[in-house]
Amino acid sequence: MLCGINTGFWAEPVRKKALLELAGIRSVHAYAEVTSTNHIASRLGAEGCPSGTLVISDRQTAGRGRLDRHWHSPEGQLFFSIVWRFPWHAIRAPQITLEVATAIARSFAGQWDIQPTVKWPNDVLFHGRKCCGVLTELRTTGAEIDFVVVGVGINLQPVGPNAPPELLDTATSLSEVVGYSISPTDTLYPVLSAMNAGRDYLLEQGRFDRRGWMDFANIGTAVCVRPPGKETFKGQVAGVTEDGLLQVKTVSGQIVTVIAGDVSEERGMS
Ligand code: BTN
Repeated sequence: MLCGINTGFWAEPVRKKALLELAGIRSVHAYAEVTSTNHIASRLGAEGCPSGTLVISDRQTAGRGRLDRHWHSPEGQLFFSIVWRFPWHAIRAPQITLEVATAIARSFAGQWDIQPTVKWPNDVLFHGRKCCGVLTELRTTGAEIDFVVVGVGINLQPVGPNAPPELLDTATSLSEVVGYSISPTDTLYPVLSAMNAGRDYLLEQGRFDRRGWMDFANIGTAVCVRPPGKETFKGQVAGVTEDGLLQVKTVSGQIVTVIAGDVSEERGMS
């Protein structure tokens, strides 16, 4: 059942079939290096791989982030993607990202005495610094989702001196937050298991767990919102709608609903 190509660091750990199966993983493809685990997972999805296919790699040469950004992907961090077949209308797909980010935050908080926050739509932060990003991509047939690829990048170790300069100011890692070096295997299984519980919730309830997201959200944080094709504005995170859209309270007290765009936290403001 668990099959695929297995090379690199993960070749041995992913043989722990029972742990993976408990986390809903049905097939594993582990590599020392890939362009992007999302890219490989999309290809496998199009070839008909089972829902619950995991693609994991020690490093990525073309790791991708949201809004076509580059995801710095050297060895030592965690990079994986999961293919899920999801019988949903594509309009609900953004809710998958919110549920996965919540699941990851919950997993971190459950494993260590730390307090992650989720930042809409796809980040897990500690004290305003990013530790994890989620990139959800989908293939549709008409308006229906055929499959989604949920890609997750987690900084286990400090990003290091070779990281792009902007990361030195904005990123953090689990090891820095916890205070000792975090092992990749100790992180992977709880995260996969939490994501699987999140997937079950989505399928059973037909929507994401808004209250769960709010429990971890950066409510009240001052943010700058850059909606595509519209004017940038500032405000405070007020919440999220049932459909997973961000709500921001502007200085005039108006609640603006954000459908898409970049949201950055404003340092030194609240
Ligand atoms: C973001 O914060 O913009 C999302 C980052 C997602 C990065 C992960 S790493 C594993 C998977 N493969 C990719 O190319 N991207 C995702």
